Amino acid sequence: MSGGSNDLLIEGVGAVATLAGGLWRGPGQSGATQSGAAQANAAVLSGGGMSVAVWGGRILAVGPQADVQRQLEAEGHSLDAFERLNARGGLVTPGLVDAHTHLLFAGTREAEWQMRAQGAGYLEILAAGGGILSTVAATRAASDGELLEGGRARLAQMLANGTTTVEAKSGYALDVAGELRLLELADRLGREGPMEVVPTFLGAHAVPAEYRDRPDATAAYVAHVIGEQLPAVARQGIARSCDVFCERGVFDAAQSRRILLAAAELGLAVRLHADELAPSGGAELAGELAAPTGPTAGRGCLSADHLAAPSEEGVAALARAADSGSAVVATLLPATSWFLGKHHFAPARRFIDAGIPVALATDLNPGTSPALSLPLVMSIGCLEMGMTPAEALAAVTINAASALGLGAEIGSIEPGKQADLVIWAVPTVEQLPYWLGASLVRTVVKRGRLVFERG
Ligand code: NIG
Ligand code: FE
Repeated sequence: MSGGSNDLLIEGVGAVATLAGGLWRGPGQSGATQSGAAQANAAVLSGGGMSVAVWGGRILAVGPQADVQRQLEAEGHSLDAFERLNARGGLVTPGLVDAHTHLLFAGTREAEWQMRAQGAGYLEILAAGGGILSTVAATRAASDGELLEGGRARLAQMLANGTTTVEAKSGYALDVAGELRLLELADRLGREGPMEVVPTFLGAHAVPAEYRDRPDATAAYVAHVIGEQLPAVARQGIARSCDVFCERGVFDAAQSRRILLAAAELGLAVRLHADELAPSGGAELAGELAAPTGPTAGRGCLSADHLAAPSEEGVAALARAADSGSAVVATLLPATSWFLGKHHFAPARRFIDAGIPVALATDLNPGTSPALSLPLVMSIGCLEMGMTPAEALAAVTINAASALGLGAEIGSIEPGKQADLVIWAVPTVEQLPYWLGASLVRTVVKRGRLVFERG
């Protein structure tokens, strides 16, 4: 469904979580460091009878209904020009942003899940040619139509769970033509809408089968990624950033650094899978590559992801980057730790206490996280990592938007920003992660248009 008008007046809102004020970080990510108490107060407007006005697909005003109506009239808008929507006391939040997904793949890997339950390790399965490589084989063999169909079905479920923007990594082809194809298909899905799709190049996801018999397999594949894949990806012009699976036994920190520096040289932002399973120098590398303020500003490291096992020095490096104003967002993926059966989660509280901005994402992929719901990830974040519901919400909105370099455009409800909104069937932020695995979305608005309504 797609509403005709993108001028909307949402009324009867129980509470609006605006997430206003920029990146959230610091003790009580619930609104501390940037503008202190003022930000915390602006973050949730409640008291019943709140309203959000949208004009031309952008946020026009937010606040108590009477104030918003007065403002619209003062600005010469006729209230009749707006399509009216009654939130029936529900909470309104920004559309959720999923900043880490492996959206496009073929096949499923439930058998591997059983192998792990019987004691096989994730990297052991990969080293034996399974894991990521089995998805690579299935993806290479799939037609465009099959990949698009799978991607569309997953996007539909994500939208129904309140997500309005997803990052989508390549990384299941591992050759030039195949990686370009995945990026082009991700881009095509975004152009179809209503979900906004932000493509990321992940050629360095694993060393493909055809390199594995060589003694210098990893080094040769890294040279191929840098020499062949990256230039082609830059010429294609779809990927906004480059990612690497920096992990002991996959790509080490030195190899990851070379790939990411080559990507930055070509004008791509960089991000990385860091210290997912063991301290691998990933967080340190992210800190080292943090966005500089000079001529390459904005092309530095936007986000370090997973971070379930960072070293002390790694945490310190991320804290230094945040302090120096070029924060790397720590994008934590607790559904992955959970699905891998790890009883060890990323130290979210340590990051928050150190002033490192934290985002949460699904890591949607067929091996380690077949998860399509950010509210469920918020629940896991609260239960297993000790985050508060307000911190978890900031982590899937403004901080996730910043992790994609889109913090000025999406992720909060502030005049001028893109009108991506969710109306929930609960009245408070606290109830979002509380109802485990529930379908709480009532209405989703993307760029001011109604794109989902629960029957
Ligand atoms: O983020 N760790 C590397 N990549 C994915 C898993 C991909 C897969 O197993 O297919 C992750 O967990
Ligand atoms: Fe991942």
